[in-house]
Amino acid sequence: MASNWQPDCWKAHEARHLPVYEDANELSGVEGTLSQFPPLVFAGEARALKADLAEVAEGKGFLLQGGDCAESFAEFHPDNIRDTFRVLLQMAVVLTFASKQPVVKVGRIAGQFAKPRSAPTETVDGVEMPSYFGDIINGIEGDAQARRNDPQRMVQAYGQAAATLNLIRAFAGGGYANLRQVHKWTLDHIGTSPWGEKFAQTADRIGEALDFMEACGVNQESVPQLQGTSFYTSHEALLLPYEQALTRRDSLTGDWYDCSAHMLWIGDRTRFEGSAHVEFLRGVGNPIGMKCGPSLEPDALLAMLDTLNPAREAGRMTLISRFGNDKVREGLPKLVRAVAREGHPVVWSCDPMHGNVIKSESGLKTRPFERILDEVKGFFEVHRAEGTHAGGVHIEMTGQDVTECTGGAIAITDEVLADRYHTHCDPRLNAAQSIELAFLMADMLNLEATARQKQAA
Ligand code: TRP
Ligand code: MN
Repeated sequence: MASNWQPDCWKAHEARHLPVYEDANELSGVEGTLSQFPPLVFAGEARALKADLAEVAEGKGFLLQGGDCAESFAEFHPDNIRDTFRVLLQMAVVLTFASKQPVVKVGRIAGQFAKPRSAPTETVDGVEMPSYFGDIINGIEGDAQARRNDPQRMVQAYGQAAATLNLIRAFAGGGYANLRQVHKWTLDHIGTSPWGEKFAQTADRIGEALDFMEACGVNQESVPQLQGTSFYTSHEALLLPYEQALTRRDSLTGDWYDCSAHMLWIGDRTRFEGSAHVEFLRGVGNPIGMKCGPSLEPDALLAMLDTLNPAREAGRMTLISRFGNDKVREGLPKLVRAVAREGHPVVWSCDPMHGNVIKSESGLKTRPFERILDEVKGFFEVHRAEGTHAGGVHIEMTGQDVTECTGGAIAITDEVLADRYHTHCDPRLNAAQSIELAFLMADMLNLEATARQKQAA
């Protein structure tokens, strides 16, 4: 771990996309409060995730990371948490069953509140006001009062994150995620999608496999892994006062961990030489993600890897490419080659969401499902050609039946986008689209496995 590092070192560096709080005393009061609160995760769990990701970096496993673009105070409800969790479980089961590889499950949840915005102000109903930066910073309502940066919101976000994580832990270990429950995860509204039928078939086959194993003496008591799953949390480490206040020294190793989530990532807009965000993440022991967009040059990427992972520890770094479907085939290979040449152990994951935003005819921001799918395909093609492992996916999704991304098997058209467009920021895949994507990715994983077997033969 970096020896000359302290949780507040970032303050001496250039911080982009951090809110300015009017009242410094109010801010330090909140920081003091948060720093006395219990950590949300334990360092040992972050190390367990790192070990799981180290396996993925070696080509043994797949990272499934997904959840809201931005969690909100308004949508905080147990059903929403359950539905997101359930769709992630369904996707994981589809991927595991089809690819016969373990799937590492990481939610964009229990802390994904802060949003970097391209402009400090925006116009709402003809009135210019400060941009909305996520519920942990200010309110989405279009009035000056709501748009004030309010440090107290960090305390509310912590409370929501703690309660969300508590429910997830209960689901993951308390029986809900038991493989014997796989049939019960089926959502009503995906029944109308052809993929709903396919999911039911997969669930049948899993049930049969379990029955067979049980007859052979393998059951939930002898193999507790069947009863539950490990589920980890993550968010963009954007709001550094919050992250710093939750950073604690691990009592077992003496190392620093950001205990607001198991995994933190750094966005495309805050990863640059000299960045406060890079400085902060350099010193914590968690697994770290880094978004890699078209503007990132191979040398800059290698410099970042040397800063963030000087010991070249496997599982520490996940590189999340987000090029856009039209740029991934051309842009990604040079990064993959540079990393392979230097021998950095990384997980390569694909964010097919952020490079594929368009404005629909109705004026709403959307992401066509075909483009999302095409970026994932491009990502797998590049890795197959380079002989590297397409290690994961990073998506914005929800368990709700929203109409935010166009396309998919139950085709969402431009005309119906406004019907159930609930996102606080970017358009998310709905439950049916997420499961469809999981099935299509399972096919791609199998293509990679076939290519590897041919190589070996
Ligand atoms: N524990 C195993 C795993 O997480 C098997 C498992 C149990 C599972 N419940 C699950 C897999 C739910 C996917 C979804 O991989
Ligand atoms: Mn987003």
